[in-house]
Amino acid sequence: MGWRVTLGSSTFSPFRIKRHAGGNGTLPTLTVEGGTPLKGEVRVSGAKNAVLKLMAASLLTKEPCVVRNVPRIGDVFNMIEVLEGLGARCSLDGDVLYIEARDLHPEAPLEPVREMRASVQVMGPLLGRLGEVKIAQPGGCAIGARPVDLHLAGLRALGATIEERHGFIHGRAAKLVGSEIHFDLPSVGATENIMMAAAVAEGETVIRNAAREPEIIEVQNFINCMGGRIRGAGTDTIRIVGVGGPLRGVDYTVIPDRIEAGTLAVCAAVSGGDLTLRPVIVEHMELVVAKLAEAGAAIEVRDETMRIWRKGKLKPLQIRSQPYPGFPTDMQPQILAMLTTAEGTSIVTETVYSSRFKHVDELRRMGADITVDGRVAVVRGPCELTGARVEASDLRAAAALVVAGLAAEGETVIEGLQHLDRGYEDLAGKLASVGARIVRRVPSEAIVP
Ligand code: UD1
Repeated sequence: MGWRVTLGSSTFSPFRIKRHAGGNGTLPTLTVEGGTPLKGEVRVSGAKNAVLKLMAASLLTKEPCVVRNVPRIGDVFNMIEVLEGLGARCSLDGDVLYIEARDLHPEAPLEPVREMRASVQVMGPLLGRLGEVKIAQPGGCAIGARPVDLHLAGLRALGATIEERHGFIHGRAAKLVGSEIHFDLPSVGATENIMMAAAVAEGETVIRNAAREPEIIEVQNFINCMGGRIRGAGTDTIRIVGVGGPLRGVDYTVIPDRIEAGTLAVCAAVSGGDLTLRPVIVEHMELVVAKLAEAGAAIEVRDETMRIWRKGKLKPLQIRSQPYPGFPTDMQPQILAMLTTAEGTSIVTETVYSSRFKHVDELRRMGADITVDGRVAVVRGPCELTGARVEASDLRAAAALVVAGLAAEGETVIEGLQHLDRGYEDLAGKLASVGARIVRRVPSEAIVP
């Protein structure tokens, strides 16, 4: 394959915010002035939660892999650091990512692993390829405890010995052998980790109560293009016939990001605008689309294009986040923010994470009338939102504050943009291109050249 790989992660990031930069005024902020209906067309980027797993799966072969439609977001740059730390060579050219994992070692680099939970996805591929992995335990998370017990139980079922000591996970396997694995709950990451390890194991693996997210179908398709034999992704039973040896290189284009598309659709609805989103796979966002329609949005889908605009005032909703095909937890903060402007009381129940309501405190600072009791939030709309200085606690909370900012009277200043940047490719630029009054302010001292 005629491409050049570039060593050194600094090559990849268009901007690199100092990891430990701190203090007031040294980190970038986003200023949003509400009240403008968004109008026009926005391009939807590739799916973050698929790309990160395909990057991990690229470790299953010594041959070069090409992943296309890759979003230029913090999590991708971080995963590049993880792969490079393991010995792979990576290069991101526009939205095309080249990965060559000819020579690998089993110890994952500490800093990028601690930055991002999705780094645990390298466990399965490394055990499959090298028979060994050493990686830091993923830490706590702003949205609640996120253990990896199901990942480890699944890898043990395939024959790995796993020790957890001094904050590290150390896995070893002379060989991996297919097995029957029944998850207690349908974990996305655990399903993918086991699929990747089992793809190169000996014999057949069956995963029951598997997660059914579209990104899992992407992992199946990617590995099958590499010569793997997986079927059933998208259902709760996945069967993997291990090939017992290395896979081959692949050239693969990733699906559009259903959560980014959903976020933009919410922005259209909350602002009373008229947006056309492209490309989207509407089958991946059926419940989000249904809920937006129930709230009073008009939606028109043609091929890979979705147009969304608002008909009159927004109506309240009952939302319950659940594993796919339920309402995605990753859309809960954004829709909750939108519902503060609806005419009546909405009930939002979060069933996937134990404490995913941190955005509520910030929305209250903007005038929202929301009460939270355990996993249930009651939103009493319509609230007169007013701009305020607010801080994002995690990725989707940051998106929720953007949504609220678009609806609020006056200026909202959002801090904690490192969270937004993890998962959205230039959200501010995309919104500005359709009329939003949104400006990113980057103090010069926060940029590492
Ligand atoms: C993925 C997504 C994340 C999304 C989530 C649920 C990526 C990179 N991230 O995260 O954006 O919010 O799916 O749709 O794809 N759990 C355990 N033990 C485990 C694993 C998970 O108890 O070993 C629990 C978690 O704490 C959580 C729930 O299961 O409460 C769902 O987690 P999981 O489906 O594994 O999410 P992730 O793969 O981490």
